[in-house]
Amino acid sequence: MVIIKNNIQIDGIRRSSRLAAQTLNYLKDFIKVGITTEELNTLAHKYIVSHQAIPAPLNYGGFPKSICTSVNDVVCHGIPTPYQTLKEGDIINLDITTILDGYYGDVSSTYPVGRISPIAQKLIEVTKTSLNKSIKSLKPGRDINDCVGKVIQPFVEKNGFSVVRDLGGHGVGIKFHEDPFVFHFDNPREKIILKPGMVFTIEPMINASKNYQVTLDTNDNWTIRTFDGSLSAQFEHTILITPTGSEILTIL
Ligand code: MF3
Ligand code: CO
Ligand code: CO
Repeated sequence: MVIIKNNIQIDGIRRSSRLAAQTLNYLKDFIKVGITTEELNTLAHKYIVSHQAIPAPLNYGGFPKSICTSVNDVVCHGIPTPYQTLKEGDIINLDITTILDGYYGDVSSTYPVGRISPIAQKLIEVTKTSLNKSIKSLKPGRDINDCVGKVIQPFVEKNGFSVVRDLGGHGVGIKFHEDPFVFHFDNPREKIILKPGMVFTIEPMINASKNYQVTLDTNDNWTIRTFDGSLSAQFEHTILITPTGSEILTIL
């Protein structure tokens, strides 16, 4: 069941989402050759708790850190570690989820480390644009699949990339992961008609090859990688459906 949030809940989710966006904005300036993903995690953790909030990933289903740091072929759920130092040409996704006064906000972006290859640059741009195109199409009364999967998949594939199937966006706000599951590819299922007060993420994970398959790293049982070792990028926003369209909640 998709929860329709009331105004009090929307206010809380808006505040938490803004803090998540502010955390990401603060962190992005530390992305440099030589920093470790553990150091990024520590900076994020301190920033979030100093704003009277809780990093949602910490201990979520046993996740050991406060943010996800997904480098290069890591699709998502990368675990920060002192043994991983960023190097020139890497791409890194930082995924931040905050709990403020009990409300959740979820955001992520992918960044270059120093100078990156043209293909990595294109992957970041296409992924970000696919999310923005989808957001622009959101309107109450429309089917979610028409606004997300049917917008993102053709655009991504036209650019020679592929849409990860096994993971998707999700309702968010009262809990970390709520209904609905948001497919980023065209997926026929019972329609979900958008209504004002729905809050969910759109967070396409896009692989630089035509192979959309992923594999779970069984060393930690969290890290998801591309099957073929190709690069993967992701952008995520928490979005509210309004009477006239949508509002991105994870903005500064
Ligand atoms: N923030 C991720 C999402 O967008 C979920 C991370 S779950 C964790 O849904 F346990 F890895 F933190
Ligand atoms: Co999410
Ligand atoms: Co997230």
